[in-house]
Amino acid sequence: MMYENIDFNSIDLTQEPPVSEPERQYYFIAKCRQYVKEQEELAGHPLTAAVVTFGCQMNARDSEKLSGILEQVGYTLSDSEEADFVIYNTCTVRDNANQRVYGRLGFCNSMKRKNPHKKIALCGCMMQEQNVIDKLKKSYRFVDLIFGTHNIFKFAELLCRMFESSGMVIDIWKDSDQIVEDLPVERKYPFKSGINIMFGCNNFCTYCIVPYVRGREKSRRPKEILQEIERLADDGVVEIMLLGQNVNSYGKNLENPVTFAELLREVNKIEGLKRIRFMTSHPKDLSDDLILAMKECDKVCKHMHLPLQSGSSRILKIMNRHYDKEQYLEIVRKLRDAIPDIALTTDIIVGFPGETEEDFMETMDVVKQVEYDSAFTFIYSKRTGTPAASMENQCDPDEVKRHFDMLLKEVQQISTRKAMELEGKVVEVLAEEPNEQDASLITGRLANNAVVHFPGDAGMIGKLYQVKLTECKGFYYLGEVVANE
Ligand code: 5AD
Ligand code: SF4
Repeated sequence: MMYENIDFNSIDLTQEPPVSEPERQYYFIAKCRQYVKEQEELAGHPLTAAVVTFGCQMNARDSEKLSGILEQVGYTLSDSEEADFVIYNTCTVRDNANQRVYGRLGFCNSMKRKNPHKKIALCGCMMQEQNVIDKLKKSYRFVDLIFGTHNIFKFAELLCRMFESSGMVIDIWKDSDQIVEDLPVERKYPFKSGINIMFGCNNFCTYCIVPYVRGREKSRRPKEILQEIERLADDGVVEIMLLGQNVNSYGKNLENPVTFAELLREVNKIEGLKRIRFMTSHPKDLSDDLILAMKECDKVCKHMHLPLQSGSSRILKIMNRHYDKEQYLEIVRKLRDAIPDIALTTDIIVGFPGETEEDFMETMDVVKQVEYDSAFTFIYSKRTGTPAASMENQCDPDEVKRHFDMLLKEVQQISTRKAMELEGKVVEVLAEEPNEQDASLITGRLANNAVVHFPGDAGMIGKLYQVKLTECKGFYYLGEVVANE
């Protein structure tokens, strides 16, 4: 039974809650509706809720799930942290993501003093760290609800507990092999959506905290994924992003193993869908079959995000990445041979423990050879509990900053040059939103994810157009529609 067909008001709350999922959560959604109604009467106004998201696409998708539940239990969704219920969906991949959350919490607490009905919740990756929980318990007692990444499907149940208790409710699981399907989701965009195809990560790159906070790799069954996408397509979604920490190892641990390339071919057949993206690929698991599937599937955007992390084979080994500089360049060669106009983007870390001038120059060399369409560059951040955090030879921050600036300059020069190559060309664009500064313009995206602004109106949103890129402005284009799709 799909949640769309559930009549939550007919659920008998005098009974014990069901043990099986998702029925158990349907019960708590019904129960929570009563609490929200009671609170609304006390407050004298409709209750509002805001979901504040940090981090990656995976977190953005989780936030849509949180929003779906909040809407079902009777909150009106809002973008403002002045809302009666605010939940921060946190990220911990680098320390600055953590610091921002503590900053927001302080601000939110000052508002809580003025609004006695206000509730504050925290969830996401940061909550899977014991030192964070200890700090919150000690210095942030005003937080009402805390949970982690593994039990997010229990949000309705946890909300009920929050309404029933006076103190801080904390529920963190260490790991889980459970995947609960068929819970409400409130999409941010009507025409595009992320889809989880797998959760967690088994790679243990030595700098990365993700395997510790997101747990072991678990793939969803293809049938569930395809059904979800079909429903989305029926509901007007034309672009989807298949999400996983390492999509290239999708399906390996399923009862009936399936490869990511096979999944991609199935998704490509879904009617109504126009564009397929995916994120993130690990170079070590990128198969020839996937390259072929990308080439042959007309709906798959010719864009590959392929994190390099470092161009030094020596550093890559200590990072536990399972490929070296030559192997990475070979994959790039294969991709470009098969799909000459493919857009390549990447992630790079500067200042991994022990990185020398020579190692850094290897990274610069790969950047120059590959000529990425764009690259996310990060300064190494020490994450407690990872192998790299206890390495003795942490880098000198001034040197790291110097390298980082050099790299950023190179990356920007190359991406501007690459972007210029498309100037004057006609490309396929998905109209996504009204331009924030100029209401006569619409903002859309190319298949390679670059942004273009062109004259148009809100009625065009969610549709594909042939757009001439009249002017390249470095990071974005100006254009004009030459034809509808
Ligand atoms: N420090 C800096 N960057 C990191 N990333 C992951 N862990 C760290 C860390 N400890 C970067 C990687 C990854 C991206 C999502 O974040 O480049 O691909
Ligand atoms: Fe941040 Fe990683 Fe969690 Fe995404 S999975 S929110 S990048 S820590």
